[in-house]
Amino acid sequence: MFQRLFLLIALLIQAFFFFEISFALKEGKTCLLNKNCDAGLHCETCLAKNELRPRCSRTQPINPISKVKGLPFNKYSWLTTHNSFARLGAISSTGSLILAPTNQQDSITSQLNNGVRGFMLDMYDFENDVWLCHSFGGTCFNFTAFQPAINVLREFQVFLEKNKEEVVTIIIEDYVKSPKGLTKMFNAAGLQKFMFPVTRMPKNGGDWPRLDDMVQKNQRLLVFTSASRKEANEGIAYQWNYMVENQYGDGGLKVGACPNRAESKPMNDKSKSLVLVNHFPDTADVIVACKQNSASLLESIKTCYQAAGQRWPNFIAVDFYKRSDGGGAPQAVDVANGNLICGCDNFAACKVDGKCG
Ligand SMILES: *[C@@H]1O[C@H](CO)[C@@H](O)[C@H](O)[C@H]1NC(C)=O
Repeated sequence: MFQRLFLLIALLIQAFFFFEISFALKEGKTCLLNKNCDAGLHCETCLAKNELRPRCSRTQPINPISKVKGLPFNKYSWLTTHNSFARLGAISSTGSLILAPTNQQDSITSQLNNGVRGFMLDMYDFENDVWLCHSFGGTCFNFTAFQPAINVLREFQVFLEKNKEEVVTIIIEDYVKSPKGLTKMFNAAGLQKFMFPVTRMPKNGGDWPRLDDMVQKNQRLLVFTSASRKEANEGIAYQWNYMVENQYGDGGLKVGACPNRAESKPMNDKSKSLVLVNHFPDTADVIVACKQNSASLLESIKTCYQAAGQRWPNFIAVDFYKRSDGGGAPQAVDVANGNLICGCDNFAACKVDGKCG
C-alpha cells in the first residue's frame, strides 16, 4: 500500500519535472522517460531508498575490452545476472502462468547488449528436453518452467557470431541427468565451436589465457557446471575446480562478511583463479533491488576483495541488474575493472596503456 502511494507521488513528480526535461541526460539527472537519458542509462526511481525523483541510472558497465584486451581472463570483471532466464512477466512456454520467483527484467539478448557477460542458468530435464526452470524439491513443473534452454543458447550463438571480440560465461546449476544432455544441446545450438576447452583452464591457481588469445582462437564461451562428473564425461568444466564464490542469498548481503558458499573452497583459496561475488536476497524483489544494487553492493565487493585474499571479483552477480539509485551493478563492475586492470578505483580513469589517468 505504502509503495503504491509512493509510486503515485513519483508519477506526479515526474509530471512536475516534465518541463525541465531535455535529452541526452547524464547519470543522476532527473528524467521522465528512458529516451531522455544518455546511451547506457535508463530512467527510474528507487522507491526502496525513499527517493521520489526519477533519475537516469546506469544499465551498462564500461566494456573493459574497449581499452585493454591483452590481459589474462582472470584480470577482468564481468556483470553477471543471477537466474538470467527468470524474466519478470514471462509466461511459461508450457502456456502456464509462472508461479516462481523472477530475477531479471529483460531477455538474454538485451542483457548481452547491455554488457552482461556472466549468466547463471538453472537447467533441468523436463518434457523430454532441457529446460530453464526453478524447482520444488528438485522437480520442474509447468508453473516453474520458463522455456527450453536451447532457445536462449541460440541467443548466445547469434551474439557470439555477431560480436567477434566478446567472451561470455555461462554458469549452470545443473540438474540435467539425461545422457550427454548438455553436450547435445550445446551442439544443437551451434555453440560447441565457441567453447573454451577444459584442458586450457588453469588447474592450480595460474593465470588464464589472455583475452585476446581466447578471441583469436575463437574460444569465447566459458561453460561451468555444478555437476562434477560432467568434467570427465562431457568435457564441461566443474565450476568448483576453477572458481570461489561467496554465500548467495541473504547470507551474502550481510555487511562486513564474505563467507564462501558450501560448494566453494574458501574465498582466499588461490588455487582457484576466478572469484564470483553474489549479492542478491533469498527472495528476489524488484522494488528492493535498486537499494541492494547500490552502496551495499560496492561495500560487498570491497569486503569480498579482502576475504578473497585481495582479489577483485571476476563476476558480480545480482538480481534486476538494471535497477539502482544511479551507478548500480554496472558501477561495481567498473570499480572491479579499474582495480584489476590499471589500479584505479574507477575504470573510466583507466587509459589504453593500462595506466591510471
Ligand atoms: C504442462 O504443459 C504441457 C505442454 O508443454 C502440457 O502438455 C501438459 O498437459 C501440462 N501439464 C499440466 C499438469 O498442466
